[in-house]
Formats: sequence, structure tokens, C-alpha cells
Amino acid sequence: MPDNRKVYIIGFMGSGKTTLGKKLASALGWSFLDLDKKIEEKAGKSIADIFSQDGEEFFRKTESETLKGLECETNTVISTGGGTPCYSDNMDFMLNAGLTIYLKLSPVQLRNRLSESKGERPLIKNLGKDELLFFIGEKLHSREEWYNKAEICIEGIDVDIMTLSSRVKLTLNT
Ligand code: S3P
Repeated sequence: MPDNRKVYIIGFMGSGKTTLGKKLASALGWSFLDLDKKIEEKAGKSIADIFSQDGEEFFRKTESETLKGLECETNTVISTGGGTPCYSDNMDFMLNAGLTIYLKLSPVQLRNRLSESKGERPLIKNLGKDELLFFIGEKLHSREEWYNKAEICIEGIDVDIMTLSSRVKLTLNT
């Protein structure tokens, strides 16, 4: 584990990575950073506009560059996008640069959470309820190959932050 301390929260869209990341950062007394927000700042437009105007390939390239551009950030919890670990060499990069935590939810839990907020998410905004569950099942299955490489896996919505933060400290030996 390198000296520069970073924690990357990974997991499917709607799993609550940002909420967990903020709580963990606060428990550790660290900074918090949201990769999607950084991408939007860099591109000067929303993720939805990047997808519709520039396409997914351009988004993935910007996502990977932005992730790697955060190298100088230390003592920071970074929440990533649902696809971040699964493209380019991003997962290997994160495994080398810090501690990775997979926030794991079931397809039904994800569907229930995502049906409220799918409008903001270009990959799922046009899917009906049943199509959404099918899409999540398929996509999650293919993405778990990367998600499962994370050093820590936590399941469910009610994560005990103090336990997680102690585990992070122990793993990082702080
Ligand atoms: C994506 C997830 C989104 C965002 C983009 C693509 C994905 O982030 O990066 O819409 O491929 O799963 P969230 O996981 O924060 O929704």
C-alpha cells in the first residue's frame, strides 16, 4: 500500500457510492471527491450531455484521464462511476493507487433505488421497470468481474461507518 492514502468506492449505479464516500471521508477526517463531478467540471457539461453530444467512448476516455489525474490527491475518499473499474486499465490503476471498496447491492435493491433517479443516467433513462431489472442483472453480472477485485467488499444499504472506517484504518495501517 503506497503512502498516499486514497480510498476508491466502486459499485453499480445507484448503489449509494457518493453517500457512503462522504460518510467515510468524514469518519476518517479526510476529503471527499466525486469522479463524475470532476468529469463534469473538466468537460464543462453534464454527464448526460457528454453522452448525448460526444458519445460514450469520449466519456470513457475522459473518465480514465480524470481518474488518473487525481494522483496528487491524498487522504481522500473518491466515489467513482458505475463503469469506472470496467474500462481501460482503471481497476488496476486504483488497486495500485489506493484501497478499493466495493459497495454491493442486489439487482432488486438496485432497481428499487434506480427507478427513482434513472432520468439522470444516460444508460438507463429509457428503460421501463422490467427492462431495468433485466439490464441491471446482465450488466452487474458482466461488471462483477472487475468489482470483485476490490480489496474490501461491503454488502447492503445499512453500512456501519465506524466499523468500515476502523477496517480502512487497519488496512492502511494508520
Ligand atoms: C455509469 C455510471 C454513472 C456515470 C455514467 C456511466 C455507468 O455514475 O459515470 O452515467 O457506466 O455505470 P453513477 O454510478 O454515479 O451513477
